[in-house]
Amino acid sequence: MTTTPPASDLTLDERVSLLSGSGSWLTQPLPDHDVPAVVLSDGPHGLRYQRGAGDHLGIGRSEPATCFPPAVTLASSWDEDLAAEVGRAVGAEARALGVGVVLGPGLNIKRHPLCGRNFEYLSEDPVVSGRMAAALTEGIQSQGVGACLKHFAANNQESHRFVVDVVVDERTLREIYLAGFEHAVRHARPWTVMASYNLLDGLHTTEHPGLLTQILRDEWGFHGLVMSDWAAVHDRAAGVAAGLDLEMPGSRGLFDAEVHEAVRTGALAEGAVTTSAQRVLDLVARAPQPDDAPGVVPDHLREADDALARRAAAAGTVLLRNDGLLPLAPGTRLAVVGAFAEEPRYQGAGSSQVNPTRVTSALDELRARGVEVTYARGYDPARSADDAALLAEAIDVAAAADVAVVLVGLPAVRESEGFDREDLALPAQHDALVTAVAAVNPRTVVALSNGGPVLLPWRDRVAAILESYLGGQAGGAALVDVLFGDAEPGGRLAETFPARQEDVASDPWFPGHPHMVEHREGLMVGYRHHVTSGIEPAYPFGFGLGYTTFAWDGAALDREILTPGDGATVTVTVTNTGGRAGSDVVQVYVHDATGVVLRPRRELAGFAKVHLAPGESREVQVRVPARAFAFYDAGAPGWRTPVGRFEVEVARSSADVVATLPVEVEGGVTSAPEPADAEPVARTDEAFARRLGRPVPTPRPVRPFTRDSLVGEVAARTRLGALLQRAIVRRTPVDESDDEATRLMYERSTRELPLRAAAIFSQGAIDLPTLDALIAAMNGKPADAAKHAGAAVAGRARVLGAAVRARLGRPE
Ligand code: BGC
Repeated sequence: MTTTPPASDLTLDERVSLLSGSGSWLTQPLPDHDVPAVVLSDGPHGLRYQRGAGDHLGIGRSEPATCFPPAVTLASSWDEDLAAEVGRAVGAEARALGVGVVLGPGLNIKRHPLCGRNFEYLSEDPVVSGRMAAALTEGIQSQGVGACLKHFAANNQESHRFVVDVVVDERTLREIYLAGFEHAVRHARPWTVMASYNLLDGLHTTEHPGLLTQILRDEWGFHGLVMSDWAAVHDRAAGVAAGLDLEMPGSRGLFDAEVHEAVRTGALAEGAVTTSAQRVLDLVARAPQPDDAPGVVPDHLREADDALARRAAAAGTVLLRNDGLLPLAPGTRLAVVGAFAEEPRYQGAGSSQVNPTRVTSALDELRARGVEVTYARGYDPARSADDAALLAEAIDVAAAADVAVVLVGLPAVRESEGFDREDLALPAQHDALVTAVAAVNPRTVVALSNGGPVLLPWRDRVAAILESYLGGQAGGAALVDVLFGDAEPGGRLAETFPARQEDVASDPWFPGHPHMVEHREGLMVGYRHHVTSGIEPAYPFGFGLGYTTFAWDGAALDREILTPGDGATVTVTVTNTGGRAGSDVVQVYVHDATGVVLRPRRELAGFAKVHLAPGESREVQVRVPARAFAFYDAGAPGWRTPVGRFEVEVARSSADVVATLPVEVEGGVTSAPEPADAEPVARTDEAFARRLGRPVPTPRPVRPFTRDSLVGEVAARTRLGALLQRAIVRRTPVDESDDEATRLMYERSTRELPLRAAAIFSQGAIDLPTLDALIAAMNGKPADAAKHAGAAVAGRARVLGAAVRARLGRPE
């Protein structure tokens, strides 16, 4: 604990300075008051702790830390105890490195499987997202380190992420996009929340009072600190007024003059500055300090955490298909095909990229175990072009073995922070490889490495499919554990694998216009759409096989009648009827059978993970919270429970209901703004406007240019813009030796960077008057440009004057 002065004891200058960070990863220290900085670090599936300046794109190197399986994999375990354990380990490593806040978990909803950052997010469902995020948060914070729920909110795509305005109706926002955050805030009390890059209904989330204050603090009782995503700040004074406490990264006081001016004119209450400064001080007071830490992850943690990472990777592996070939018998002669076997793809690119303490490939592990293996590369992960020679070699190797294990998936260049995927397909060579190997060896197992759903056109032609996702640093070892049955593939899909891209309800509106994305699909995200519209997926949400079998008996609900505000509890006895230890996931969905209001046909209400020895039975209870029966009524506004008959469905997946338990709600509402027979997907403007309760907005035009204009937009239209873009690219930290994914991410990030963010990252080289002068010039307004330029020069003269006075010891 650090003792800090109350914010009210600080000068306005000092308070304002606390509201922005210092450099990439520190809060602003105040040495005169003995207020140290707090170290913030990505996250979330391990630490990306950078000493010194650092960068926010995951390009620069960070201190070695354990790379646990990313969120997509961990969420597939549906195991909150495991998530808490991983959280504790991440928290302990943070503690060892002197990190005060881990920037995670990320729990944005997977609105579309093509979002490039889905590997960093937990699920398409808010119950799974919220509960797993709460468990991770509790784990991290149990070590005396803060967690940071991100990215708040409705940040569901990478395309145009800095400026896209998300147009979504209030009910969908509450039920789908906010519900997970709400759960995690209420149950795990995170120290911090990160406001996202995008806009929501025309307002930057970093200056959205409804989101940052009314919902987050007033309704959900959040007491912590809200920080911005890196360079998400647009209007700092409006941000302070809305409840954005901390701007990150530090921008060398870029916005300070505007904040002072807003206080001077009364546009911003000084009390709001004091409140936010106090929240920064409160964070400083509770966060651990680097001086108290060894600064490296000690050996004993490295060993234990590598073992945990391995266990977690197996627990998140989903067995999609198995004709009985798995687990493999000891002594099986294996052909291992696919470059991922020696160069595993174990995490995604971008800000979450951890520098692992070690990496175990599947081939390393097989050889260490003395398994007889022949290996063929099959493809070059760094190149997209087909390679007939690699294919031919793989076929020869596979034909001669007892069993062929083919490792395919998405190379890094297909999936990263900073851009969205273009389609659901695997690279053509990967599909060709599986098809060719399966044709010569019917005993073919496919192991997938990818961070989101893919199409598997050959899925009925292979003996087994393991969705290993991104396994973290021990993913290769975990895959071998699973292949030989030393660990069971314990996962269930936390997302739908669609059979076709057009089966995704949001597909026509993803990623939308560069300045606006319409959520016309409303609540019909993931399985909600598939189930409601009767579309068969390739693999449904919640699905996953195992190596043992389970019987479920005596499913019952503790009540037959409810009134609004009541929840209920499902009980079911699960017995492991097979010969091996294993785990199962009891999923409970709710179906509104009367239908006062438009609703997805089936929605997850709760789940429980159970681990059982052979022959063991356990009575499992799953709580169905009152909220599961309710809907959000934007008109009222508030949560309402409709009257009528509900069915509580006890299920193995969203497509496999084992027992249906009826329950009656008495005294609920009898009408709703959107009746049950309304169109689930608002395809027409009229239907969407009705759902929004206002006309469908039009996207902001590209001209006139503003601080929110993108570098790529001004570069394509003005000479000055092109010069600016070139200047930014010239300072690029990437070079030819960086991998394709990193270069692509950087290129996209530059093109899609708003001008204000370019000023933030310029670290003092471009101040706001200079930026405004440039913008006026690009708009063809020389008089305005001259005025802003004058202000810029005056501002610099003031800064210079203050510096000289300070040197001479003569303050103003
Ligand atoms: C990402 C955040 C991350 C931050 C710092 C941003 O670009 O969106 O998730 O925590 O950078 O690296």
